[in-house]
Amino acid sequence: MADVIAIDGPGGSGKGTVASRLASELGWHLLDSGALYRVVGLIALRSGIGFDDIASVAEAARKADIGFKYAGATPSASPIRVFVDGIDETDAIRSAGMEQPASRVAAIPAVRDALFATQQSFRRPPGLVADGRDMGTVVFPDARLKIFLTASVEARARRRFEQLKDRGASGSLRAPSGSGHDNAAGSRDAELAAIRASTEVRDERDRTRPVSPLMPAPDAVTIDSTEMSIDDVMAAVMVLVQERGLGC
Ligand code: DC
Repeated sequence: MADVIAIDGPGGSGKGTVASRLASELGWHLLDSGALYRVVGLIALRSGIGFDDIASVAEAARKADIGFKYAGATPSASPIRVFVDGIDETDAIRSAGMEQPASRVAAIPAVRDALFATQQSFRRPPGLVADGRDMGTVVFPDARLKIFLTASVEARARRRFEQLKDRGASGSLRAPSGSGHDNAAGSRDAELAAIRASTEVRDERDRTRPVSPLMPAPDAVTIDSTEMSIDDVMAAVMVLVQERGLGC
């Protein structure tokens, strides 16, 4: 069985960036498990399936035709594009409006069951770096290295804000026009506050759901990235990777 490095944590902790950099450093495969839940959220939204209609959402998850394409020759080469029924939906699933739908469908046990085998199929030689919420606890409990990457809610909301701004995609989290935030600073503050509120709602749902809640595995190493750059986090992770003799 190929080795797995599991990187779990809340949104905005930097785990996606760290996972993709680590995978390319090691030449390993990469699983962005959140993308799968985002796709199911997108399908439910587009098909008009209510998030309370558990049977229909689970059916959509079972039938979903999801494909990943990589920018380069290796399976870890980012940016990874995500296809649904052969159509590139990367931008759609990454938009701010998809965060709550993804979190809603991820709380449905039958959806998690439907995506379980797909996630495990990413485990191939020479190894897999998998990022998500339950990689170390449920999907790859035998991972050789488990990292729980976290950060304060303020830091995570700020990073999310910058990320969405870079992509020009903050969309639905923007303060409604006429809300009194007409100048740039006011509008920035309002947007940041909206992202923070949305982050807290999502964290709470991800942490308290009965099945596969967001939590560190007992044997995970926790890294708090609040005061760290991505380079700092990568350096700390590489020490752990080397200590465990991974990717040599
Ligand atoms: O990492 P992300 O923001 O793309 O994840 C989107 C949602 O999917 C998030 O709210 C929690 C859920 N998720 C999950 O429940 N389990 C995973 N392994 C990955 C993501």
